[in-house]
Amino acid sequence: MALPRIVRIFDTTLRDGEQSPGASMNLTEKMEIAHALVQLNVDVIEAGFPIASPGDFESVRAIAQTVRGATVCGLARCNDADIDRAWEALEHAPQPRIHLFLATSSIHREFKLRMNEDEVVARAIAGVQRARNLCGDIEFSPEDAARTEIDFLCRVVEAVIDAGATTVNIPDTVGYATPLQMHHVIKSLRERVRGIERAVISVHCHDDLGLAVANSLAAVEAGAGQIECTINGLGERAGNCSLEEVVMALRTRSDYYAADTRIVTQKLVPTSRLVANITSIQVPRNKAIVGRNAFAHEAGIHQDGMLKERRTYEIMRPEDVGLDRTDLVLGKHSGRAALADRAKALGYQLSPEQLQSLFERFKALADRKKEIYDGDIAALCEHQFSALPERFSFVGYELSCASDRPPRVTLRVLQGGEEKSVEITAGDGPIDGIFLAIEKLTGITTICRDFRVQAVTVGKDAQAEVTVELQEVCPDPTSNGHIHRGRGVSTDSLEASAKAFLAAVNRVALGSQPKLHPQRTELES
Ligand code: KIV
Ligand code: ZN
Repeated sequence: MALPRIVRIFDTTLRDGEQSPGASMNLTEKMEIAHALVQLNVDVIEAGFPIASPGDFESVRAIAQTVRGATVCGLARCNDADIDRAWEALEHAPQPRIHLFLATSSIHREFKLRMNEDEVVARAIAGVQRARNLCGDIEFSPEDAARTEIDFLCRVVEAVIDAGATTVNIPDTVGYATPLQMHHVIKSLRERVRGIERAVISVHCHDDLGLAVANSLAAVEAGAGQIECTINGLGERAGNCSLEEVVMALRTRSDYYAADTRIVTQKLVPTSRLVANITSIQVPRNKAIVGRNAFAHEAGIHQDGMLKERRTYEIMRPEDVGLDRTDLVLGKHSGRAALADRAKALGYQLSPEQLQSLFERFKALADRKKEIYDGDIAALCEHQFSALPERFSFVGYELSCASDRPPRVTLRVLQGGEEKSVEITAGDGPIDGIFLAIEKLTGITTICRDFRVQAVTVGKDAQAEVTVELQEVCPDPTSNGHIHRGRGVSTDSLEASAKAFLAAVNRVALGSQPKLHPQRTELES
């Protein structure tokens, strides 16, 4: 039997994924994700858009200097300043790639670029040539390719390959394509572009119509050799093609696609959790592959079938995506070795100091909760490694409330080693009261855009995981404030809420750097 052909996985969680509102990450968080992507064995890590901000530049440079075994890529528009800045960030990478993009669809040419076809082609060639003089590995993306006239798309792709592009990426920038159409575009490029065999054809699909994975698979069927995707499908608007879904579709249906990837699929769930926790963007329960219900068989008839032969209702094994279905439960009397063992099985490598601190937190949790599950241990580990410096950290609260009057809240936080407290009687419930107390104490006012609570594991004493999304209140009422997310975990859901709110407030306090958005800026030249 012929070996399946290998489709490259280009992960853009740190670039397009970071374009999800509120998903900005700091350097340490990006390094942690980059490290996880290496373990996952992705082929290319798009580490950022170096010209966007000094922070983006530093992250791309740090990842380029550290990562081994994967290509590290930086995004640039087709202009000299972007290209040179991208190269400055990437030059020390063992395998660097510059990713250039320029819009090609008629709507972008007319309204965004105000350039005609010839000017677009000339700019694309000049950009690729400049980048190719710096770096041997150049990817070119005709932005909004899926809405570009096919004749013009073929012309651009041929021109950039001639100029030295080694990968041509076909983005469905606005998530407009359908699978058959995407298949047709890739097939046409393969049939009509002279020299197409000198470049890898890639695909980059957005999920506005929920078709990103289907479109990417259709592109592979038509001969694409690289898929651009993100962990948990993060990304601009409705997001990008989800890495875990497209990878498992190829692996599970390799009989049909005759293609596979190099991904270590057992790392999919741990990587998904890591990204969810760093970005505080939780994965829906019913999300394919990594959602909590993805392998839960509820219906009696399914359970009966599963007990007789799991393949009756299961097309993938949970362990193949890194879901460990252990029933091992730890508790008050479990020792350090058992904890270290579980943490290791969950994918956390701990130094002796980290293990010691984890153990102390584990004991404190075991005093509040009888049975400690894997989800609890993962939550403790993630808190332990959470990289964000805290300007304000939670100490405690006291609360008195009733249904017929505003709550009275006393809140204590630590700021610069000093404990501060505030007391207020306000709010339309205990959580609102706690949030108002935090705002008063920190002097930071925000608009709460989202608030979610879910149980980390099962049982009435399960830890609550709270995520909040806050929008900064800008002095200029016509401009939108940045979105910041925060997450908090505790057996007490009010404490978890306070921690989540404080985590988001800490992000506001640390300030967001002004950033160029690759696709929203007018600065195409
Ligand atoms: O969606 C898009 O077009 C992009 C490009 C920069 C590749 O993200
Ligand atoms: Zn995109």
